[in-house]
Amino acid sequence: MLTVESLAKSYESTAGSPRRSLARRLGGRGSGAQEDPAAPQARVFAVDGIDFEVHDGELFTLLGPSGCGKTTTLRSVAGLERPTAGRVRLGERVLFDADKGVNLRANRRGFGMVFQSYAIWPHMSVFKNVSFPLDVMPRIKRPDRREIEERVQQALEVIELGGYASRPATKLSGGQQQRLALARALVTRPELMLLDEPLSNLDAKLRESMRFELKRLQRELSLTAVYVTHDQSEALVMSNRIAVMNEGRIEQIGKPREIYTRPATRFVAEFIGTSNFIEADVLEVQGNDVVVETSQGRLVAANCPRKPAPGEKVLLSIRPESVDVSEKPHTDGTNTWSGKVRNRAFLGDAIDHITEVGDLKVRSRSNPSVSLAPGTEVHLAIAPEKVALVPVD
Ligand SMILES: Nc1ncnc2c1ncn2[C@@H]1O[C@H](COP(=O)(O)OP(=O)(O)OP(=O)(O)O)[C@@H](O)[C@H]1O
Ligand SMILES: [Mg+2]
Repeated sequence: MLTVESLAKSYESTAGSPRRSLARRLGGRGSGAQEDPAAPQARVFAVDGIDFEVHDGELFTLLGPSGCGKTTTLRSVAGLERPTAGRVRLGERVLFDADKGVNLRANRRGFGMVFQSYAIWPHMSVFKNVSFPLDVMPRIKRPDRREIEERVQQALEVIELGGYASRPATKLSGGQQQRLALARALVTRPELMLLDEPLSNLDAKLRESMRFELKRLQRELSLTAVYVTHDQSEALVMSNRIAVMNEGRIEQIGKPREIYTRPATRFVAEFIGTSNFIEADVLEVQGNDVVVETSQGRLVAANCPRKPAPGEKVLLSIRPESVDVSEKPHTDGTNTWSGKVRNRAFLGDAIDHITEVGDLKVRSRSNPSVSLAPGTEVHLAIAPEKVALVPVD
């Protein structure tokens, strides 16, 4: 539905910019920018040549740390930012094309938006804030009064403000106002919704419940959305697919499970969840299985989507919950190690142990009933399909 190709956005850099690493020399990536040859590092790429497609009915998330270019990407799609290079299409409709000089105005793109700095209409009630986008629709498109009321009520229920319809919008807390902005975007059921951290101002508990509600509504109404967040668990819960961004580029696009279990780069593995990283050399490839040599002996990685060559150096990414720790030896000898517990940390719903295996420190996560004191001799086992290979940076 939405296609973004080679999108780049650069800004004039100011001296001492903390993002100097993004400064590109003349002729570097993100081409298309009119650079000044006298000042080869004068521009900083907030978005540095990214491509992605959002399918019909999909919630597609841009996930990445602060400053990686998520908002800039979203604003470029919305038409609020003029990209330096690239193309943006909605189906066959060209919204932006840097080469052809096409740049459709934001209000002609017809998207529903919630931005990081949301705005509510202070002189209107909660109900009116939400119904307004419907009230101002041209007569032939406008739903009848009853439907408007139903839709507004439904949107207010989703954001858990069902009982607040008649309250003046200014008499809401910051988090409530943010939810109101979200309801206002939901109510028009636009072709595409652009949501920039729409739950960021809410407390942990409300955020959690709204993730599910928002996801349910999006699925029920088959809404298509580009969702921006820096919160990995939010992205995992809500998304059909996730694009992980780092310094203006996309490192990986995939379903939540793929991103989590098969991170394509070290950055992705580190940004999402916790991982053990272990250096290894590839010994042999047997079908989809890869046998590697670590400092503590051989391990097998099963179902690898990428086939490395024998002799290649790789990084193994192993999630703590994929490491089974036990005082008894494991019966199946594949991917087993012995070591000594060095540390343990109680996390409430889980317990982590750090076990020393030769020169490696391996973190495992278990049910809190498995509590092993530091110094205990233990056995570790890692299921081969839980070992992901990541290219060495
Ligand atoms: N108008 C501007 N002028 C100069 N630099 C800018 C401008 N807007 C954004 N940037 C820079 O571009 C980079 C990307 O910013 P962006 O707002 O897209 O990040 P983000 O991923 O949305 O971060 P956050 O999670 O903190 O909202 C940042 O380094 C930012 O400082
Ligand atoms: Mg942002």
